[in-house]
Amino acid sequence: MANFVSAAKVTEVPPGQMKSFVVAGTRILLANWEGTFFATQDLCTHDNGTLGEGELRDGEIECPRHGGRFDVRTGAVTALPPLLPIKTFPVRVEGETVLVSLDG
Ligand code: FES
Repeated sequence: MANFVSAAKVTEVPPGQMKSFVVAGTRILLANWEGTFFATQDLCTHDNGTLGEGELRDGEIECPRHGGRFDVRTGAVTALPPLLPIKTFPVRVEGETVLVSLDG
């Protein structure tokens, strides 16, 4: 069974925004897309851009370095130059807390 750990308060990531967090020693990106939270790795697969410094638009994470894009829900590449998807993590919200599972 997935082991969920506390990542952030719901209020720390308002709708339409995303932010980097360190959870159990792993840097992740937490995005709030239309009121639903999604978690991904925080490093771009193209050249390690910090995705938390990019933009969240139309359900896509845009890397601040060269404009690569990833689907916030699946991590799939939606715009080059990245070729490989980013990892995604299961998310659960309990009350005011966003929990993430880094297991899978
Ligand atoms: S490092 Fe992200 S697009 Fe190049």
